[in-house]
Amino acid sequence: MDKIVIAGGKPLRGRIRISGAKNASLAVLCATFLSRNEIVLENIPEISDVRVMIEIISSLGATANWENSETLRVKPPQKVSTGAPYQLVKQLRASNLLLGPILARFGRVRVALPGGCNIGIRPMDLHFKGLAGLGAELSLEHGCIRGRVKGRLKGARIYLDFPSVGATENIMMAACLAEGQTLIENAAKEPEIVDLANFLNTLGAKVRGAGTDVIKIDGAPILEGGVRYPIIPDRIEAGTFMVASAATGGDVTLENLIPIHLQPLSAKLREANVEVLEGEDTLRVRADKPLRPIDIKTMPYPGFPTDMQSQLMAMLSVVPGTSMIVENIFENRFMVADELKRMGAKIKVEGRMAVIEGVPSLQGTQVKATDLRAGAALIVAGLMASGETEICNAIYIDRGYHKLEEKLMSLGASIWRK
Ligand code: EPZ
Repeated sequence: MDKIVIAGGKPLRGRIRISGAKNASLAVLCATFLSRNEIVLENIPEISDVRVMIEIISSLGATANWENSETLRVKPPQKVSTGAPYQLVKQLRASNLLLGPILARFGRVRVALPGGCNIGIRPMDLHFKGLAGLGAELSLEHGCIRGRVKGRLKGARIYLDFPSVGATENIMMAACLAEGQTLIENAAKEPEIVDLANFLNTLGAKVRGAGTDVIKIDGAPILEGGVRYPIIPDRIEAGTFMVASAATGGDVTLENLIPIHLQPLSAKLREANVEVLEGEDTLRVRADKPLRPIDIKTMPYPGFPTDMQSQLMAMLSVVPGTSMIVENIFENRFMVADELKRMGAKIKVEGRMAVIEGVPSLQGTQVKATDLRAGAALIVAGLMASGETEICNAIYIDRGYHKLEEKLMSLGASIWRK
């Protein structure tokens, strides 16, 4: 059952509800270690990355139980003795977000160093710089990151050479229990950063400025917790459906999202002659006119999101004319181009630039997902292509999309698993 098959050529029509944000959920699950008491998280997507994170926090002494399909009750441990096991950590890079909260709460941490992944080397120098700036002593021993703090972390002024999402999150979480004030300068501004800050403040922390370049955190001795918190909707799931609607000449309304989080993508789709209509918590995407070629460069939020780049490459592969994509965030995020070329796309990749010459149509064939968003791009391509497309390594897609086939089937797609 690790293959998804699509009989393409059908325009998507209808309405679907967007699930909770994967990347906000993973950070908030790590942040629960800062809390003394139980927390109830709502709108959590039941996707494989979340299931792995639950296994990891449980291996460290937390207990987590689903109250229903989207609500998770988490009881943080009163002490953490062991480290997170490598066979779990290697599956989920976001396990590196455990460093900050566990160091801050328990004074010592051991987490296997998450490897790189297909899209880039994914260093952690900015995480280490920030946590060391707060007074942590970090070392790499036998493939594990070991950290310890003598006494309590101390607030500090930390400048990030790059607005790293993960480094901003790790430092922000650790600073909540540090002594005194921490400033994070050149901080990441993604919506998931703001959601994490809102969650931390719900626990009793004092985080200000999330969503701007400078985040100010006044540390506290403890965070009581004992709260309920709803996670924001997933802007990348929403964006993937927006592109799928545009790519199939469809008319799809997405519900349960925050339109401003999609502004960079909505603007680019309008440039491509797609109609994007904003409601309070909905977006309607209609493509009943010929699409125009566009140029994209991925940037930190509020620039165009790197996590939407592959999906747009698929859509642009059949737009008449020449489109260009520059990938400024990760070193190796054009792998899907080779699979799209097997479907008839004309794409030339030079370093961080991809040039796409639109072709009349794509042809269905066997293709393979190389990472989560490349898999999503192949879903878009399969929906557009003539004939059947068989996508193997569908397990990558399951990491970040909840009930994807069901949602697409409800929009009229002919899609099944085998
Ligand atoms: C988060 O990864 C997301 N993952 C990624 O989503 C997303 O693509 C990325 O942010 C950028 O928006 C989660 O939130 C779990 P970064 P993260 O640190 O935190 C360099 C998906 O598909 N860097 O902002 O790892 C790094 O090499 C995933 O949902 C350093 O140089 O991203 C990269 O080039 C994929 N040193 C750039 O910054 C560091 O210490 C962005 O990385 C850290 C990062």
